[in-house]
Amino acid sequence: MAKTKTQFVCQNCGTVHSRWAGKCDGCGEWNTIVEEDPMGGIGGGPGKAPKKGRAVALTTLSGETEQAPRIFTGISELDRATGGGFVRGSAVLIGGDPGIGKSTLLMQAAAALSRRGHRIIYVSGEEAVAQVRLRAQRLGAADSDVLLAAETNVEDILATISEGKRPDLVIIDSIQTLWSDTADSAPGTVTQVRTGVQAMIRFAKQTGSAMVLVGHVTKEGQIAGPRVVEHMVDAVLYFEGDRGHHYRILRTVKNRFGPTDEIGVFEMSDNGLRDVTNPSELFLGERNAKSPGAAVFAGMEGTRPVLVEVQALVAATSLGTPRRAVVGWDSSRLAMILAVLEAHCGVRLGQHDVYLNVAGGYRISEPAADMAIASALVSSLAGTALPPDCVFFGEISLSGAVRPVSQTSQRLKEAEKLGFAGAMLPATSAELPKNSSARWTMIEDLPDLVARIAGSAKKLGKGHENAGEDD
Ligand code: TYD
Ligand code: MG
Repeated sequence: MAKTKTQFVCQNCGTVHSRWAGKCDGCGEWNTIVEEDPMGGIGGGPGKAPKKGRAVALTTLSGETEQAPRIFTGISELDRATGGGFVRGSAVLIGGDPGIGKSTLLMQAAAALSRRGHRIIYVSGEEAVAQVRLRAQRLGAADSDVLLAAETNVEDILATISEGKRPDLVIIDSIQTLWSDTADSAPGTVTQVRTGVQAMIRFAKQTGSAMVLVGHVTKEGQIAGPRVVEHMVDAVLYFEGDRGHHYRILRTVKNRFGPTDEIGVFEMSDNGLRDVTNPSELFLGERNAKSPGAAVFAGMEGTRPVLVEVQALVAATSLGTPRRAVVGWDSSRLAMILAVLEAHCGVRLGQHDVYLNVAGGYRISEPAADMAIASALVSSLAGTALPPDCVFFGEISLSGAVRPVSQTSQRLKEAEKLGFAGAMLPATSAELPKNSSARWTMIEDLPDLVARIAGSAKKLGKGHENAGEDD
C-alpha cells in the first residue's frame, strides 16, 4: 500500500507546508507547524477509495419551508445579536477569551429555551457534569429540562444527539476539545477541529437543529484554529469585555441570516448575565463631567445609539519619543488626529505623552468618534472641561474638514433623552430632528472646534493647571 503523505499545517493560520519549519510563512508565528494526516481534512475520509458520485435531486427556490425558522431565547440582548433568535438548521460560532462568560451565557440561553418547551442538548467538553451542574444551580437553571453530556468524541456526540426526538438546539462547548476517530492528529489541532466542526454543521443541516459552537480565541483575539471554521458556519459572534469590568458585549461579525452590526450588552452579576437594554446609561454611569479631557461620544451600534465617554490625558514629557497609549480605539486613527491637529490647528503635541481611554472597557470602531476624541485631547491640553451636557460626533478628514456621519437624528435623540442639552456636530449634517429644544453647535472644521474649546477656556479664565469647575 502506498504510504500516505503527511502534510504540515500551521495551527495558527491553517497554511499547509510541504515540510516542517520553525516559522510559518503565512502568519509569521513560530513553533506553530504540526504534522497532520491530510485524509482527515475537508473532502477526505478515512483513507477510502473515491466513490462514484450520486445525482442529487435538484429543486426550486419556492417550496416548503419549516414554520417558525427561528427560535427565540427571550433573552433580549442575545436575540438582538443573533438577528432575532437562533435559526434552525444553522451553525453559530461564539468566540471569546477564557472566563469571559461564554458557558454562562449559553447555559442561561439553554435554560430559557427549555423552559419554552424546546429540546436542548448541552455537550460540555471542558467541564465535568458536576461542574456544569454547579454553574446551573448558581444561575437558577438547575430546574430546567436541559439535557447534559460531558463528551468530546465526535462520533459519540453525533450518536447521542441523533438519538430520540430531534433536538431544537445543540450546544458544543468547545470545538477545541472535539476529536474524531477519522482524523489522526491530536485533539485541538487544525484537522481535528475542522473535522469536528464539519460533522456538527452537517448534523445541523440534515436535521434542522440549531447548532451553537463555542470557540476559544488566540491572544490576538481571533478564533483559535483554522480561519476556515469561520467560513464554514452561518454566523460568528464574539463575546468580549474587560475582565476588570462587569459588562460584556456580544458582537456579530458574520451573520448569514441577519445584520452584522448589532451588539448585545450584558452585565455579569453573582447569578449570571443580565440584559442591559439601555447601554448608554451603563457606559456613562460613573462619569465625572467636570474633569478636563473627557468628552461624550454619541455613537451607533447597528440600529441602536450608544453614548460613551472618551477620556484623554495629555501630559508634558521629557522623553525623546513621547508615549501614545490607546485603549478601546484604533491607535493609527489617534496618530491621524494628532497629525491633523498639528498641521491645521497649530496644536503641537510632539512634547506630550498622549493617553486615550474609552470608558468602561468599551471598544469604538466608528470614525464618527473623531470629533469626540479631538475635543477630549484639546480639552486635556487646555486644562479645561468641556461643557458637561454636550455630546460630540463627526468624522475628521486629513484636510481638517469635519464630515457628516450617518444616523444624525438617532444620535441627537438619544442624547436628548439622556439629558444632554447640547451637541457639537458636523455643519453639513442632514436629517436633523424637528422640534427639539437642544442647542446644536454646527462645526465646520477642526480649527473651528479647537477655537471654540480654547475660546471657552479663555472666557472662563482657566489656565493650564486649573482642573475646572465648569458650570
Ligand atoms: P464562564 O462562563 O465559565 O466563561 P467561559 O466559558 O467564557 O470561559 O464564566 C466564568 C466567569 O464568570 C468566572 O470568572 C466567574 C464569572 N461568573 C460570575 O461572575 N457570575 C456567575 O453567575 C457565573 C456563573 C460566572
Ligand atoms: Mg467555558
